Amino acid sequence: MDETRRREYLRAMGVERWVLRPEPGEPQPEPSPVQRSPVPAASPAGPEVGEGVPPPSAQDSGTASGGDRDLPAWLLEEPPQTDDYIPAREPAEYPADLEPAVGPVTDLSALGWDELRERVGECRGCELHRSRANTVFGVGDPAARLLVIGEAPGADEDRQGEPFVGRAGQLLNAMLAAIGLRRDQVFIANILKCRPPGNRDPRAEEVQHCEPYLRRQIELLAPRVILCVGRVAAQNLLQSGEAVGRMRGKALFYREIPTVVTYHPAYLLRSPEQKAKAWADLQAAYRKLTP
Ligand code: URA
Repeated sequence: MDETRRREYLRAMGVERWVLRPEPGEPQPEPSPVQRSPVPAASPAGPEVGEGVPPPSAQDSGTASGGDRDLPAWLLEEPPQTDDYIPAREPAEYPADLEPAVGPVTDLSALGWDELRERVGECRGCELHRSRANTVFGVGDPAARLLVIGEAPGADEDRQGEPFVGRAGQLLNAMLAAIGLRRDQVFIANILKCRPPGNRDPRAEEVQHCEPYLRRQIELLAPRVILCVGRVAAQNLLQSGEAVGRMRGKALFYREIPTVVTYHPAYLLRSPEQKAKAWADLQAAYRKLTP
């Protein structure tokens, strides 16, 4: 990134002072006072929030050098020049000859993880089963303390049967790494288990049919904290009509589980100036994770 753009970009994120990265061979500058995001202290409950993972300011996603050295690298990455990796919204079309939906799922309260996964895999509760390649149950540690909830699978996730594997997923991984968590140490799920065609917003009836699956996942997981990424996740989980900008920073709960709302990584890829707020939200989630 050229220096002027870098300065504008950092300023937009509220970073007013920094030290330039030295050229190869130049001496490393002394740290100078910079405006830094507060970084959560490494917790004595380390194993539960990231065993063997360096403290939150120095994750494997990398930290910026020079005066930005305590800010995670994902926060400072060059904003994309185009957003053509965000798929265009296409009209939802279903082939006419596929099986119709069969209605709501029945009581799931007795199901364990394996049976629940199986039930999701064979779900035909709404029309989305017609166009999916795979259901996307969720991934991670079934004993995780942090549950991340997104919106719905996109094209990559539908193809691979795993949530957050595309560009947004890479950013989510880096964001988690910045608070000391690898992807396999949290659980990641979505409001919907099937991809809405063209990545359109989930419809109310689709959310309604899918909701018991997520509810049962949350019962089984009993996470200490839920991190909702994006409007669709937050509004549907918390039954709210508020924008993410109004929900974030508030003490919210889903069935008594502290719930932190932040921006969706796909939105952050398009609006990197909001990353500093997402970083503050992540740190809030981290603090709630630690006893
Ligand atoms: N966006 C989501 O909300 N969920 C995914 O799994 C992928 C992208």
